[in-house]
Amino acid sequence: MKLLRLLVVLFSVPMFAQQGGMWIPSLLNGMNETEMTNLGMKMSIEDIYSVNQSSLKDAVPQFNGGCTSEVISPNGLLLTNHHCGYGEIQAHSSVEHDYLQDGFWAKSYAEELPNEDLEVTFIVSINDVTKEVLAGVDALKSEADKKALIQKNISNLQKTYKREDWQNVMIRTFYEGNQYMLFVTESFEDVRLVGAPPSSIGKFGSDTDNWVWPRHTGDFALFRIYADKNNRPAKYSKDNVPYQPKHFLPVSLDGIEQDDFTMVFGYPGRTQEYLPSYAVEQIVEVLNPAKIGIRDAALKVTDGYMRQDQAIKIQYASKFASTANYWKKWIGESQGLKKSNAVATKKAYEADFTNKVNKAGKQAEYGNLLPQFEKLYKEITPYALANDYFQESLRNDELISIGFRLYQLENAYKQNGEQSFNDRKANLIKGFEALYKDYNKNVDKDVFEKVIELYGKNAPADLTPAVIKNIDYTKLTNTIYAKTVLTSYDGIKALLNGNATEVINKMNQDPGFKLVKDLADNYFDKVAPKYQELNTEIAALQRTYMKAQLEMNPDARIFPDANSTLRVTYGKVNGYAPKDAVTYDYVTYLDGVMEKYVPGDYEFDVPQKLIDLYNTNDFGVYADKNGKLPVNFIGTNHTTGGNSGSPALDAEGNLIGLNFDRVWEGTMSDIYYDPAICRNIMVDARYILFVIDKYADAKHLIEEMKIVYPKQASKDKELKDNKLKKVKKNKKK
Ligand code: ARG
Ligand code: GLU
Repeated sequence: MKLLRLLVVLFSVPMFAQQGGMWIPSLLNGMNETEMTNLGMKMSIEDIYSVNQSSLKDAVPQFNGGCTSEVISPNGLLLTNHHCGYGEIQAHSSVEHDYLQDGFWAKSYAEELPNEDLEVTFIVSINDVTKEVLAGVDALKSEADKKALIQKNISNLQKTYKREDWQNVMIRTFYEGNQYMLFVTESFEDVRLVGAPPSSIGKFGSDTDNWVWPRHTGDFALFRIYADKNNRPAKYSKDNVPYQPKHFLPVSLDGIEQDDFTMVFGYPGRTQEYLPSYAVEQIVEVLNPAKIGIRDAALKVTDGYMRQDQAIKIQYASKFASTANYWKKWIGESQGLKKSNAVATKKAYEADFTNKVNKAGKQAEYGNLLPQFEKLYKEITPYALANDYFQESLRNDELISIGFRLYQLENAYKQNGEQSFNDRKANLIKGFEALYKDYNKNVDKDVFEKVIELYGKNAPADLTPAVIKNIDYTKLTNTIYAKTVLTSYDGIKALLNGNATEVINKMNQDPGFKLVKDLADNYFDKVAPKYQELNTEIAALQRTYMKAQLEMNPDARIFPDANSTLRVTYGKVNGYAPKDAVTYDYVTYLDGVMEKYVPGDYEFDVPQKLIDLYNTNDFGVYADKNGKLPVNFIGTNHTTGGNSGSPALDAEGNLIGLNFDRVWEGTMSDIYYDPAICRNIMVDARYILFVIDKYADAKHLIEEMKIVYPKQASKDKELKDNKLKKVKKNKKK
């Protein structure tokens, strides 16, 4: 027993260090394969990615550009998060049938709901094209020339690379311009809504529980991919048929236990793991606080109104959720970076890097990198801050964002003439109709005052327009809102009526527009040019720094930052201890849903049917071995935004969960991954099946899946092991 514990300690220390990373599925050979096998994986890497035979990647399309999804039946049934399908569920909802509130379940193919502008994209193959993209680039001196040649090489490849008619070619950079990969893809545009739980399951806990563990959310929705008669991508048609995938994921009822192998396969959006300490310092000390400050103010105002007025609540629910999501993430990120001493750790790493550069005699090439970074980050800080104030004001206040669209309209006229003005105007009027449906002048006015005050007082003085400096913010706000016509659809339609000269004349007399024009002119004169110039220099430096880090640490686990391409991340089921005397278990149960239940509350209400199922213990085959119904679990997989909807797979490649979030203490993993506290949050597959089967009574959906029952799983495993033994024996012969 003692020996066992010693062994566990000995082996778990280095194993623990080998966590994190988002790896390219076509390059798992070697180190990743070994680590995954050590963690308990029973598949081969050919099972995950193969060009010649069907593999897991054939079941995992990107969902609408920003999320991940997976095929879970031979008939193209697709699983993703409720929050990824939120827009579609909302679009099909009305007062008579509110699918957000009550859920939706198609009883047959005929009842499945088509969606405009929804597509899913599969990866057919991944190919290294670094040589082709960088051909001739080294010979060039200026950054601009290099950029232009790279762009040219890329578009050449895009035109000439061999692919089928219905396929696309996409090229992305890895390691900040040190590697280029080409993806052949297939996009399906007929994707229909099949099922969604009510928000009281799919969004249970809402913003209060967002980014937080322990969690109890059934964050899933079902869609179906349709194809033409040849099983190829096609625009929506009633003649289309359910897509027959090259591979679909079996769903396992086996459940999870401490330390079980898990793998998450999906499309992480963006990470910045290789920034110098100066950049991290800037994020923690300067940029995050500014962005959090603006959103904090905007959210407080909006929340006050939403709580008082049901109509405003509906108008602002979706905007509020999306603003709150990253507001909350940045707060967690800053706290985590501070708590894990990310800056100090980076500084130590940089000292070590400098040592290695010196030892290797590479001072001429790499010796100047860090001092250069220090200088550039110092220089860019005021511009970055001014940039964030401008962008966040634009994003958080509606009058400013409406005014900015008019500003672009005026520019379109100045630069491209009347025709371009008219086209843009027509589009704007169309878009404004929807915008003003969800617009409330009082909310906007109060948000405006708060946002402008923060901007005027806290952005660097010499980069801020005089009109919002050292003034009475209430007075400015009252003056503008008394006169501006940008606060109603009728007002703006009247403003936009007439030819370009007339409209532009009217616009320039509107006090709301005039203020936004002052802000925007100031931004494009004083902030944007210098900000972009410095950013280009930093990006070039970062490319060399990345190359140097790879070169100085040839054996290190250096994965390329996320870039919305398909990645594998792996780890194990595990709880964590975020602070003194606090330890979190790795799984939550339906009991926890009931503990959080607040009747009638907009975040923590529970549907009556779920309460009934709980009270009668009616969990069917979905309970764990102690008779409890698992809801969510966590693991050490390194994920980020875009991994929403990613499948969590077991050692054999069966679906055991659905990724949807990260824990509060670990949200800094986009910048600095700390294996001690970074965890991803998944819905347990058993909860998903339970909701479909017992709650929604949609048994026909369960029937089209391949369910791996616990006994079956061990039998399958035995079979596989025996086969392996046989193969080995045969090989020996
Ligand atoms: N935090 C998760 C993500 O980044 C879930 C967001 C869902 N939205 C919400 N406000 N609860 O997307
Ligand atoms: N909810 C996020 C998404 O929409 C995933 C959570 C994360 O950022 O890790 O992609």
